[in-house]
Amino acid sequence: MRRRSFLALSGLVLGFALTGCGGAEGNAGTLTFATPLHIPPLLDPAPGPDGVKRFPLRLQEGHTEFLPGKPTRTWGVNGGYLGPTLRAKRGDRVAMAVTNTLGEASTLHWHGMRLPAVMDGGPHQMIQPGGTWSPEWTVEQRAATTWYHPHPHGLTSRHVYRGLAGMFILDDDRPSGLPDSYGTDDVPLILQDKKFGENGELAEKFGGTFGLLGDRILVNGTYDPFFRVTTTRVRFRVLNGSNAHVYNIGFADERKFHVVANDAGLLDKPVAVQRFQISPGERFEIVAEFAPGEQVLLKGFDGDSEIEDGDYDLLKLVAAPRLSPSAALPGKIEDPWPPVEGKTIRRFRLGGDDINGQQMDMARIDEVVPAGAHEIWELDNTTFSHNFHIHEVTFRILDIDGEQPPEHLRGPKDTVFVPGKTKVRLAVEFGRHVDPATPYMYHCHILKHEDKGMMGQFVIVEPGTEAATPRTLSMAGHHGHH
Ligand code: C2O
Ligand code: CU
Ligand code: CU
Repeated sequence: MRRRSFLALSGLVLGFALTGCGGAEGNAGTLTFATPLHIPPLLDPAPGPDGVKRFPLRLQEGHTEFLPGKPTRTWGVNGGYLGPTLRAKRGDRVAMAVTNTLGEASTLHWHGMRLPAVMDGGPHQMIQPGGTWSPEWTVEQRAATTWYHPHPHGLTSRHVYRGLAGMFILDDDRPSGLPDSYGTDDVPLILQDKKFGENGELAEKFGGTFGLLGDRILVNGTYDPFFRVTTTRVRFRVLNGSNAHVYNIGFADERKFHVVANDAGLLDKPVAVQRFQISPGERFEIVAEFAPGEQVLLKGFDGDSEIEDGDYDLLKLVAAPRLSPSAALPGKIEDPWPPVEGKTIRRFRLGGDDINGQQMDMARIDEVVPAGAHEIWELDNTTFSHNFHIHEVTFRILDIDGEQPPEHLRGPKDTVFVPGKTKVRLAVEFGRHVDPATPYMYHCHILKHEDKGMMGQFVIVEPGTEAATPRTLSMAGHHGHH
C-alpha cells in the first residue's frame, strides 16, 4: 500500500516535471542535430536607374519538409516557408511590391522600421487576394535588425504561424567593426515553436491564455538544426518569431558571450552575459567565440514566466577543425545615444487582453502624439506575462519596477517584455511622419493577445493639431473595382 502510493506520487512528480506547468514540454535530449541550418537567401537588389531599390515579395502557399518524410502545408514569402532576408542601407530609397497570392487578405508590416504610417503595413493596409501593395520610403534610421510579418486584425497569429515572416537588416554608412559576412559569421536565427500533428501538419491550437506554445522548435524554418562555425567569432541576429514563447537563451556550457544590439540598433559597447531573455518580436544581436573543433549547444533554458517553461535545445554549433581568425570585438560600437525623457507621460494598464480596459477598435484613435515628441510611456501590467511593441518609434527602458534595466537591455528598442505584475517605464522617441488619419499600432506581441484586441492606435500630428477619422486602405485584388 505504502509502496504503491509512493510510486503513484513519484509518477505524478515525474509527469509534472516533463510537462511543466504552462503546457509546453521542453525538447531537451530529443534532437540529433542532423539538418544544416537553413540560411534565408539575401534579397539586396542593386538600385535602379532612378536610385530606388526594388523588392518583389510574394505571399504564397507551399509545402515544407520540416520532419523527414512528412511534408507540411505552409505559407511563405517568395518560397514555401518564411521569406528572404531583405537588406538596405541608411539613406536608401526602397520600394516594395507585395503581391498576395493567398486565398485570403493579409498585410505585411515592417516591424522596427521608421516610416510613414500608410507604408507601415498594419491592419489599415490590407492586401486582397491577387492584389499588390507598393509602399516606398527612405531608410532614415541607424543600423538594426528589423523584420516583417503580416498584421491583419484578428488573424496575425495564424498568418505568422503558417510561416509569413522574414528579417530586414539595415546597415549604417560606416562599418560597425562587428562580423558581417552574411550566413558565415553574421547569421540570422529566427526562433519559432510549433506543434505538429500525426501527419506533419501544423496544429493550429490557439487556445489557452497565451495561445499556441509548441513542443518543437524551428530555427530559420529548420527542424533539428546544426550550424558549421568557420570563424573564431560569430555574430548571431536572434529574432523571436514565435507566437508566444519566451526564450531564456544561453549556451549549454554556460560560456559568456556579448550582446551587441537590441531591437532598434547597436549598443554603445558590447556587454558580456551568460543568458538573455527574448520575447516575441524582440531581436538581440550577440557575438560568441568558438575554439577549433568544439561543439556546443545553444539552448533556451527554463525561466520564471509561464511562457518560458522547459529546457529547449535550439541549435548545435559545430566548429571546424581550423577556424579563420575574426577581428577583435570593438570596445566601442556606437556613439552613446542617451534617452531623452520628455515631459508628457502616458499610462497604459495591461489587463488580461486589453489596454486601459479597452480592446482595439480600428475606428478609434487612442493617442494623438505631436511630431518629433519625446514622451514617457508607463506600462502597468496588472495580470500575467505580456510584452509591448510600439510601431514607428525607438524607445529605451528607463526602469523595471523602479530599477534600472540590466546593461544589455539599455540599447534602442521597439518591443519589451513586461512580466506579470510589473511596471515598466519607457523613454519613447517619435518620428515626424505626420498623418492625422492613418494610425500606427502599439500592442502586446503575444499574438493571441494582439488578435484578441490588446492593441491601441496612435497618430502623429503637427504639434497643436488633432487626429482625423481613421482611414483604411485596401489593395484590390482580382475582384476589386478600382
Ligand atoms: Cu511585429 Cu505590430 O508588430
Ligand atoms: Cu511593428
Ligand atoms: Cu499579452
